[in-house]
This record gives sequence, structure tokens and C-alpha cells, in this order.
Amino acid sequence: MPSSPSATSSSERQSKRMERPPPLFLLRFLFLFPLLVVPALSQSPPQPKGFLVNCGSTDDLFTPDGLRWLADSSFVSAGSPRKLSLPGLLPVLSTLRSFPVRPGILQPRKFCYVLRAVRGARYLIRTTYFYGGFDSPAGSGTPPVFDQIVDGTFWTTVNTTADYAAGVASYYEGVFRAKGMTMSVCVAENTYTTSDLFISALETILLEDSVYNGTNFDEYAMGLIARSTFGSIGSTLRYPDDRFNRYWQPFSGSAHAMTSTHNISSSDFWNLPPAMIFNTALVADKAKPLVFQWPPNLLPSSSYYIALYFADTLPGSTRTFDVYVNDYRFYANLTVTSAGLVVFSTQWLLSGLTTITLTSESPLPPLISAGEVFGLFSVGNVTHTRDIIALENIKKNIASPPSDWSGDPCMPEQYSWTGITCSNGSKIRVVALNLSSMGLSGSLSPHIARMTALTDISFAYNNFTGPIPDLSKLKNLQKLHLQNNELTGVIPPSLANLSQLRELYLENNNLTGEIPRRLFRKGLDFRFLPGNHFLPPPAN
Ligand SMILES: *[C@@H]1O[C@H](CO)[C@@H](O)[C@H](O)[C@H]1NC(C)=O
Ligand SMILES: *[C@@H]1O[C@H](CO)[C@@H](O)[C@H](O)[C@H]1NC(C)=O
Ligand SMILES: *[C@@H]1O[C@H](CO)[C@@H](O)[C@H](O)[C@H]1NC(C)=O
Ligand SMILES: *[C@@H]1O[C@H](CO)[C@@H](O)[C@H](O)[C@H]1NC(C)=O
Ligand SMILES: *[C@@H]1O[C@H](CO)[C@@H](O)[C@H](O)[C@H]1NC(C)=O
Ligand SMILES: *[C@@H]1O[C@H](CO)[C@@H](O)[C@H](O)[C@H]1NC(C)=O
Ligand SMILES: *[C@@H]1O[C@H](CO)[C@@H](O)[C@H](O)[C@H]1NC(C)=O
Ligand SMILES: *[C@@H]1O[C@H](CO)[C@@H](O)[C@H](O)[C@H]1NC(C)=O
Ligand SMILES: *[C@@H]1O[C@H](CO)[C@@H](O)[C@H](O)[C@H]1NC(C)=O
Ligand SMILES: *[C@@H]1O[C@H](CO)[C@@H](O)[C@H](O)[C@H]1NC(C)=O
Repeated sequence: MPSSPSATSSSERQSKRMERPPPLFLLRFLFLFPLLVVPALSQSPPQPKGFLVNCGSTDDLFTPDGLRWLADSSFVSAGSPRKLSLPGLLPVLSTLRSFPVRPGILQPRKFCYVLRAVRGARYLIRTTYFYGGFDSPAGSGTPPVFDQIVDGTFWTTVNTTADYAAGVASYYEGVFRAKGMTMSVCVAENTYTTSDLFISALETILLEDSVYNGTNFDEYAMGLIARSTFGSIGSTLRYPDDRFNRYWQPFSGSAHAMTSTHNISSSDFWNLPPAMIFNTALVADKAKPLVFQWPPNLLPSSSYYIALYFADTLPGSTRTFDVYVNDYRFYANLTVTSAGLVVFSTQWLLSGLTTITLTSESPLPPLISAGEVFGLFSVGNVTHTRDIIALENIKKNIASPPSDWSGDPCMPEQYSWTGITCSNGSKIRVVALNLSSMGLSGSLSPHIARMTALTDISFAYNNFTGPIPDLSKLKNLQKLHLQNNELTGVIPPSLANLSQLRELYLENNNLTGEIPRRLFRKGLDFRFLPGNHFLPPPAN
């Protein structure tokens, strides 16, 4: 099998790829297994595996299509649930969760849902937004513009303005690989955000291994541009027709549409499309090519995943034609039968408007049933696991941790948790933890000592109680500011072993015992009074 070209932003590589179109994969399926499963076809498939979350709802919700939507409080700690009271609204859209913005603050924040996942598995993630004027009494406000982040990777900007003006909800869909046992899906402030962020619904649906498996999800994620059933004027296909609740939108265009019925089985295709997508098609007029613009929107110049689905509408018939995407041949002499087939490219360069052209020399005109196009984008690195685990434990010991302490602690770069500074490069470590003057209480977790890249720590000017943990493993530590808390116990003598330590501030606590003599050394600014209750130094 040909290998996929690696993505690069260099224009030289891209123009080279333009000359030599990327590899194609053709999937052709035969009826090896007769349809023994007809009764099963009339039943709904099981609930999609994963989570369907009805944001802002306190109760689970069952929708008429047979889906169960969960209340959101076990997946998110920040934000406030809201209810829209607009008549005729779909139940899933009638609640949302909003998150406060702080205009004028330089460091933007992200607010995350964290959901259990199977490590290494592939998930379809869909976020749904319906503003509904939740933050303006008469529903007169304008929707905020903000970003979406998955597991520390910037996904896309959310702008629901045009959809809201048209009275419809907006959704975004992507395919991501779970890097760990959880996935985080976040809304985040950006420079355009001027009012509170929100989200109406969130789905993370486990895909089977064969779906979109031509893409290397270790390096890339995919964002849906369009998923269309050509020649259809009916409603959007989704669950239960699509077992993963993917949305297939009708696309009629100006070409001739045809309908037919097929005996195609979804499981004959790696992407497991619903069999119903083959029941409609756009067909060329006699002796003419079929030409149409799809996807309908202007695309930024980038690599895209394209899958095109075909089935002859006449039983037992075949037809052969060439498929072009813009001016490049996507597939030559494609022979389509009523058994159906799909051709796809895992990396195809598109820019601006896209034209699909099907041309044929044979008497039967070319036709097409459905298509999917996704933008590809690189997935970023995540914070070193050791630091993530330590921070989760530190968080547990703080009574009300900062509201943005969820999702990846360091990534994306501008969206680290409040009080956290991280290193750059391929191994992302937390280098500073500064929670000074944040009105916090709780205790200092011994897990701090596992964050071995730390150079600066401050918990100063809070109400932390309990002892100072053993920090002797933090060999890089230069500053330790614990002044003005309610810490008790003795100063751990091991602090004197930290050779890089330049500032040790412990004043205004309730520390007792002896002061380790070795802390009075050159190069260490050591402050311990007033406000503690140390024993007088031993008289010798
Ligand atoms: C959001 O979308 C609206 C309508 O399409 C557009 O006018 C506006 O400029 C967009 N806002 C941003 C920040 O991109
Ligand atoms: C994708 O899945 C199909 C069906 O399981 C398998 O035959 C094929 O080899 C897989 N392709 C890749 C690139 O993993
Ligand atoms: C579908 O299968 C049924 C019997 O299983 C057969 O009668 C019918 O002709 C088939 N239809 C097509 C379009 O192949
Ligand atoms: C398509 O098939 C025709 C006839 O079999 C042949 O002449 C032509 O070279 C083929 N085109 C390609 C690109 O393979
Ligand atoms: C990381 O890189 C950015 C710019 O590339 C820089 O502003 C920032 O200070 C760096 N952070 C660290 C911890 O080195
Ligand atoms: C992510 O980390 C790997 C090594 O762990 C490194 O090769 C790669 O360049 C990093 N990617 C980014 C975007 O920093
Ligand atoms: C911290 O302690 C001070 C003094 O005891 C008290 O006034 C303040 O309310 C406390 N703050 C918190 C967040 O507990
Ligand atoms: C923590 O942040 C405060 C306020 O920005 C600053 O004054 C202090 O020096 C910082 N402490 C450390 C150890 O970086
Ligand atoms: C600190 O260093 C001294 C001597 O350098 C050593 O004896 C002692 O075990 C060390 N203590 C800790 C807690 O590492
Ligand atoms: C500090 O300790 C003194 C004496 O042990 C006690 O009276 C006082 O309440 C303590 N203060 C705090 C803030 O814990």
C-alpha cells in the first residue's frame, strides 16, 4: 500500500504534492455473505458507545430517536447550568452551560469537560451550540466567538453568529484519538471573546477501528467540512440509520437526482456508512459530464480527507467513469456496480472552491451517492504524564481550586492552567507553580515533590494549613514562597539539601520546632519571622 505523504506547511512540499496527487485507496466489496440478517435491519442498532452529554441539564434525557443524553455535572466542574425558555426548542438545545469571561485579562482560560475514554481508540466528537440569548433578558444579545480545544490541541473557532441569526443550532464534528484514559473537550476564550462562553451538547462516540483508518491519528485529527447524501431532499440521516450518529446532510445541487433501493450492507465498507446513503444519487445528463461544487464552502489551502461513495441505481448494471476533484484526476476508469464502492484519499490538497467532475465515455451517465470531506490538522503534544498526575493530586488537596484547572495543564501553549508555567519543546513539563494570593485553603500535597522540573513554587498569601511536605526531590527548585499561610509543623531539614534554592520565605505561618542550621547559608534569602513559634536555637 502506498504511504501517505507527511504533512508540512512548507509551500514547496505542497506544490510538489500538487503535481503528484496523493495516494488513493479503492474499496470494492462483493456480496460474499447473503443477507441472513434481514430481521436485525429493522431494529435499531445499540446506543452509540461513549457519552452523549446534555450540557446544563440536571437530569438524563431520552429523545424520541432512542438516544439517552446524560446530565453534565459529573463531567465538568466550572460554569453554570442555564435553561432557555423559548417555545418549540428541541430538549437537547433547551439547556446549556455558560462560563464566565474576564475581559481585559491577558491570560485566556479554557473550560473543559473530561470524559472517560479507551486509550488509543478513535472518537467522533461533536459539540453543539445554540445561543438562545441566554445572557440577555430579551434574547437580543449576540453569540460569543471563542475556541474549541481537544486534549491540548486547538480544534477550531466557534462562531455561531450566522446560524443563530438564521434560527438554527451549530455543530462541529471531529475525529480524534484518545491519548489517555480520558479525553478533554474545552471551550476557550480568544481575542474575539467579549461575553460568556457556552455549550449546549457534547458527544464523544467510540468509532470502530476500521472507520477512517487510512488516517494516522497519532499525528492528525480530522475536522468535518461536509458529509452529504447527494440527490437527497429528505431529512438529515443520523442515528439509528448511522450507528455512530454521524449526520449526513441532504445535498441536491442543480444536477439530476435519482432514487433507488439497494441491498448494500453498511459493514461492507470500512467507514460503515448507513446503507441508505446509496438510495439517492446525482446523475449526469446524457452525454455530458456531471459537474458540481462540493463542499459548498470556501476552504483554506490545506490537506483534506475525501471519501466518495457510489452505487449503480440499476440492479445488475455497471458503469465506468473518471472522477476529478478540481483539475486533478481522483480516480480513473472507476467501475461502479449496484453493490456500491467508495474511493478515498487520506491527504488531498484543496483550496478555495472545490469542483467535482465525473466524465464518462460509456453510454450510461456517471453518478455519485454520497461524500465526506474532513480537514486534517496536526495534534499537539500534551503535558508530561508525571506532572499531570501530580497536579491532579495537588488539586484534590485544595478546597476550591481555580475554575480552569481541568483539561491539559500546559497545552495549548497560551491556555495553561491559572498559576502554571510550562517548558517548551517536545517534553512539556511544569516549571513554575504560583498560586499566591488566590484565597485558597487546603493543604500542600506531598505530590508536589514529583514535579521534578519545578524551579519556582509559591503558595504565599493563602490559608493553607498542615505541614510542609518533603520537597527534597525538587533538585531544580530556586524559589519556595510559603509565607502568610497557616502552615504548622517543623521546617523539613531536607530543604537545606536543595542546592539551587535562592529564596525560602516562610514568615507568618504557625511553624514550630528548630530551624535547621544549614539554611543559614550564603546565597539563600531565608525569611522565617515574624509569625512563627520556633524553639530558641540550642545553646552550644
Ligand atoms: C462571526 O461570524 C459573523 C457572521 O458570519 C461575522 O460577521 C463575524 O465577523 C465573525 N466573527 C469573527 C470574530 O470571526
Ligand atoms: C482498515 O480496516 C480494514 C478492515 O478492518 C482493514 O482491512 C484495513 O487493512 C485497514 N487499513 C489500515 C490502513 O489499517
Ligand atoms: C434485493 O434483494 C432481494 C431479495 O433478497 C431481491 O428480490 C431484489 O431484487 C434485490 N434488489 C436489488 C436492487 O438488488
Ligand atoms: C481507461 O480505460 C480505457 C479503456 O479501457 C483505456 O483506454 C484508458 O487508458 C484507461 N485510462 C486510464 C487512465 O487508465
Ligand atoms: C516558550 O516559547 C515562547 C515563544 O516561543 C516564549 O514566549 C516562552 O517564554 C517560552 N517558555 C519557556 C518556559 O521557555
Ligand atoms: C512532540 O513530541 C515529540 C517527541 O515526543 C517531538 O518529536 C515533536 O516534535 C513534538 N511536537 C510538537 C508539535 O512540539
Ligand atoms: C483566611 O484567613 C483569614 C484570617 O484568618 C480570614 O480572614 C479569611 O477569611 C480566610 N480566607 C479564606 C479564603 O478562608
Ligand atoms: C508569584 O506571582 C506573584 C504575582 O504575580 C509574584 O509577585 C511572585 O513573585 C510570584 N512568585 C514566584 C515564586 O514566582
Ligand atoms: C541531606 O544531605 C545530607 C548531607 O549532604 C545527607 O546526610 C542527608 O541524608 C540529606 N537529607 C535528605 C533528606 O536528603
Ligand atoms: C497558631 O498557633 C497558635 C498557638 O499554637 C494558636 O493559638 C493559633 O490559633 C494558631 N493560628 C492559626 C492561624 O492557626
